[in-house]
Amino acid sequence: MKAVRFARYGGPEVLEIAEVAEPHAGAGEIRIAVRAAGVNGLEWKVRQGLLREVRPLRLPAGVGGDAAGIVDELGAGVAGVEVGDAVFGSGRDTYAEHAVLTSWAHAPRGVTLVEAAGFATPFETALRVLDDARVRAGQTVVVNGASGGVGSAAVQFAVERGATVIGVAGPAGRDYLAALGAVPTTYGPGLVDRVRALAPAGVDAAVDIAGSGVIPELIRLTGDPAAVVSIADFSAPGHGASVSTGFGRDRTPALREGARLVAAGRLTLPVTRTFPMDRAGDAQAASATGHTRGRIIVTLGEPR
Ligand SMILES: NC(=O)c1ccc[n+]([C@@H]2O[C@H](COP(=O)([O-])OP(=O)(O)OC[C@H]3O[C@@H](n4cnc5c(N)ncnc54)[C@H](OP(=O)(O)O)[C@@H]3O)[C@@H](O)[C@H]2O)c1
Repeated sequence: MKAVRFARYGGPEVLEIAEVAEPHAGAGEIRIAVRAAGVNGLEWKVRQGLLREVRPLRLPAGVGGDAAGIVDELGAGVAGVEVGDAVFGSGRDTYAEHAVLTSWAHAPRGVTLVEAAGFATPFETALRVLDDARVRAGQTVVVNGASGGVGSAAVQFAVERGATVIGVAGPAGRDYLAALGAVPTTYGPGLVDRVRALAPAGVDAAVDIAGSGVIPELIRLTGDPAAVVSIADFSAPGHGASVSTGFGRDRTPALREGARLVAAGRLTLPVTRTFPMDRAGDAQAASATGHTRGRIIVTLGEPR
């Protein structure tokens, strides 16, 4: 089968399409015929070699963690899903014609598999960071980096919990954030004053999705470092705040919860750009700008 891979660390140009052996589902896993793969920030960082100390790879290595497609193999002990079902989820080496998923949920009715391919990491990460920041009904929460993949999901999950959400993104994201249910504001100097003007009664929690170096400002807003959780700023613990990582977690409950809300028309994660498999490097380069609205997707074959 055809798969995207890289044989050395480097820029987008190191990605190549190679003919590789098909993977097979192990116990508790499924395999899908991939229709589309979601592009996440982690992938360009891994390709660049930025994580080689913590996540050493044997090269050549496959690429991608999220995908949607049609189940074509069930591992031992798998129940609740059949060959031929349309699913989305997370696994390994998903920029490929076939990929093994370790967590999955049925694709909700009413969305394409291209859209569903972008769901898994944003759903799991957004729910986890809101849980870690103990966001609940009646609270006011700041989401810094609110219009990207994880941020869009975090805004909507927090609204769904009954929180008031102040969403921070660039000026072009205002209408988009308002449509998701957030009170929009912009990043840059004066952030604390802008948020205070929008939340005169105070801010209960803040989640930093962008990793843009504003942990001290978010602590000033909440008045409590324990109420500030980042997914991308590893200086947070130095300020008394925390970093949330999801390595090794079972994503299934989050995927099902997100799919339930999508099916109910209460959650949307729009696809901004799609790239065919042979332009996976361009897809990752677009992701690496840090200014994605919604999701970037790599498609395989005819998108549907
Ligand atoms: N720890 C974990 O478990 C975990 C899981 C998933 C992702 N991540 C990491 O989390 C980060 C975000 O992921 P993502 O997929 O949501 O990224 P993304 O789709 O690229 O979204 C980036 C968002 O940040 C906003 N932004 C850019 N510059 C900003 C600034 N200076 N201040 C505030 N917001 C700013 C962008 O808004 P504009 O477009 O308007 O600029 C956009 O809303 C990445 O670094 C990713 O690797 C971590």
